[in-house]
Amino acid sequence: MQIINTIVELRKTVNSWRTAGERIAFVPTMGNLHAGHLKLVDEAKLSADCVVVSIFVNPTQFGVGEDFEAYPRTEAEDKQKLDAAGIDLLFLPSVSEMYGNGSRTLISATNLSTIHCGASRPGHFDGVATVVCKLFNMVQPEVAFFGQKDFQQLAIIRTMVNDLNIPVEIRSVETVRESSGLALSSRNGYLKAEELQLAPKLYQALCAARDEILSGEKRYSVIENEAVTYLQNAGFVPDYFSVCRVNDLYKADKRDTDLVVLATAKLGRTRLIDNICFSVVR
Ligand code: PAJ
Repeated sequence: MQIINTIVELRKTVNSWRTAGERIAFVPTMGNLHAGHLKLVDEAKLSADCVVVSIFVNPTQFGVGEDFEAYPRTEAEDKQKLDAAGIDLLFLPSVSEMYGNGSRTLISATNLSTIHCGASRPGHFDGVATVVCKLFNMVQPEVAFFGQKDFQQLAIIRTMVNDLNIPVEIRSVETVRESSGLALSSRNGYLKAEELQLAPKLYQALCAARDEILSGEKRYSVIENEAVTYLQNAGFVPDYFSVCRVNDLYKADKRDTDLVVLATAKLGRTRLIDNICFSVVR
């Protein structure tokens, strides 16, 4: 595995691959790698000749008072995991390498960026879309992999690629979970022992909502309110719990068939995010 820190070196290497006719897959991450990230890497390996992974804790997607400084940085372990996974290139730029030339241009997926997580994290998704666009321009992969766990992020990346005609295929990978149902996340490391016991209840609430809908309940606001109460009683501070259309992430109504229930809740100081996606036969 090559480890590259500069954009010039990265371009040189991927250009040589491209000239040799190699197909390039890309997995952007912020590091602190777990089995969810490694699932993306495995899928990438199956789909291309060369796999590039980036690790960059992107400051522009963290708001004031959020955990940019505290975000877990585990470079040595991450390198070992990626080497063992058999990737070809790890891109590990510094903040000045990524943003040293100034960062006056922002990509905003307009209304998709301001609902759900975007409502409580203003500017977050503009930071994500901008850094992912920059990374796409640097790596120029044929295919890139994103987790369904961050469903809104995935929708925003797809929208950006479509609207800006970026020549990359976006593939999504199912959420990897603990046996308890808890979605793997770098932020799970913030949870205290007793919070870790409670955390799977977020996914349980999502499953319960899905089951109610599949058994015919069409009053989605009732389901949402029940879930919020359940989570509050369990000790969470829910941000939103919302039955949405897969297409545009707006609130679903009873005619919609392809649904995703999106949820975010705080447990102590940790923000947990999860979702469940399914279709209803009408
Ligand atoms: P990060 O949180 O490190 O996640 C990197 C990728 O791993 C994302 O596509 C995310 O959806 C996926 N992922 C995280 N947990 C997962 C799980 N349990 N199962 C499957 N996939 C999972 O998301 C980001 O970084 C950043 O916003 C980034 C896109 C890199 C831009 O900075």
